[in-house]
Amino acid sequence: MLQSRSPQRPDELLLEVEPTGAEGVAAAVGRARAAGRGWAAAPALQRSAALVAAAEALAGAAGEVTDLMVREVGKPASEAAAETARGVGILRYYAQQALDPDGETYPGPSPAALLLSRRRPRGVAGLITPWNFPVAIPLWKAAPALAYGNGVVLKAASEATALALRLAELLAPALPDGLFQVVPGGAATGTALIERADCVSFTGSVEVGRQVAIAATTRGIPSQVEMGGLNASIVLPDADPQRAAATIAGAAMGYAGQKCTATSRAIVVGDPARFTDALVAAVEGLAVGDPAEQRTVVGPVINEPARRAVLEAAEQAAAAGGRLLTGGRAGNGAGWFVEPTLVDRLPPDARLAQEEVFGPIAVVLPAADEDQAVAIANGVRYGLVGAVFTRDLDRALTVAARLDTGLIRVNAPTSGVDFHAPFGGEKDSSFGPREQGKAARELYTSTRTITVLPEGG
Ligand code: UN1
Repeated sequence: MLQSRSPQRPDELLLEVEPTGAEGVAAAVGRARAAGRGWAAAPALQRSAALVAAAEALAGAAGEVTDLMVREVGKPASEAAAETARGVGILRYYAQQALDPDGETYPGPSPAALLLSRRRPRGVAGLITPWNFPVAIPLWKAAPALAYGNGVVLKAASEATALALRLAELLAPALPDGLFQVVPGGAATGTALIERADCVSFTGSVEVGRQVAIAATTRGIPSQVEMGGLNASIVLPDADPQRAAATIAGAAMGYAGQKCTATSRAIVVGDPARFTDALVAAVEGLAVGDPAEQRTVVGPVINEPARRAVLEAAEQAAAAGGRLLTGGRAGNGAGWFVEPTLVDRLPPDARLAQEEVFGPIAVVLPAADEDQAVAIANGVRYGLVGAVFTRDLDRALTVAARLDTGLIRVNAPTSGVDFHAPFGGEKDSSFGPREQGKAARELYTSTRTITVLPEGG
């Protein structure tokens, strides 16, 4: 049985369901494919209106969805409310994208001839999503898939199953029967989905993402996989240390650092003392506690293994000669709480500076100059987000241009995403076409090039 439990109250069982077997997945894909035929043939205005109705349904249930997000995945209430609102925005945005031009024209062999390239849906999009953005990620994949005329089958992380099922219930009245379906389950359910879908979009770990891309490629279907990050924030000597520290503390520790966009390395050019003191103070000032409280910034991590991973990373860093600046201990009471943790005096090749922990832990690394800061920032296998803090536009542009990441932030947190702009990384962080914004069309449609000549040439 698949169980979903509250990270702040592990005794609280939110949901228990049977994982979907291979036949169940095949049946779901079959229903989505059948519904998708009519959906793809329907006027784009109808798809647009359905997505607007879906947005309204989510907006109408925003409070309830936010509460469930707080309970099921321990996301602090203020962040959870913002994510639900983002979900509504994503649906509205793709309702408009459904009306965008669906192709291009090219010069033909004569002025009267037409040479066109038109977009058409792939069929059924198989979506495999993580628990950390349980509304935004399923929707930023499902909304474009639907807008461009596909059916959708979603396999959400088992830790976020209750939310995925609620989302399907809320959207159902706006959409044709069977078009959007959720298949609860774990890895086996995901594997079965890849075996049946017409394209796959995945967000999760590097290890699983690689397997997803291989399995999809073996079947000859397109895939897009978004994996980890080990995002650096470079602080240049002219940056205001207090302001940079406040932004980086939030980006590192918000939602207990459980974002692939979280900052896990602060790279300080020049004397690191003032910035480090400011960062320790900023991190210690973050409200840790019950995610249901409005003021909470750092709630629990998702489960016991996740907490163990953070505590072990802190211990290992200390054993390797690192200095624990703050944190490093489990929180009191029930729930998977762990103190926000900062470490320094580690070399850039230390484990904590190389491997993603996916929790509230970050390392401060000094750099002699900008060249060294860029080398350290790029010296990892990930390439999702890079940030630079400075008041000097010239230096900001020069450093930013040298970062090997898909997203660049100047004086801004590494976390947070604009759903109307392309999203994705370099190196081990991403594979396949970008998602979000208009870039989402690459995965969910294919082109058909059409030549039309006047009779007789
Ligand atoms: C955000 O920072 O708002 O799984 C979104 C993740 C990323 C999404 C981050 N794909 O953490």
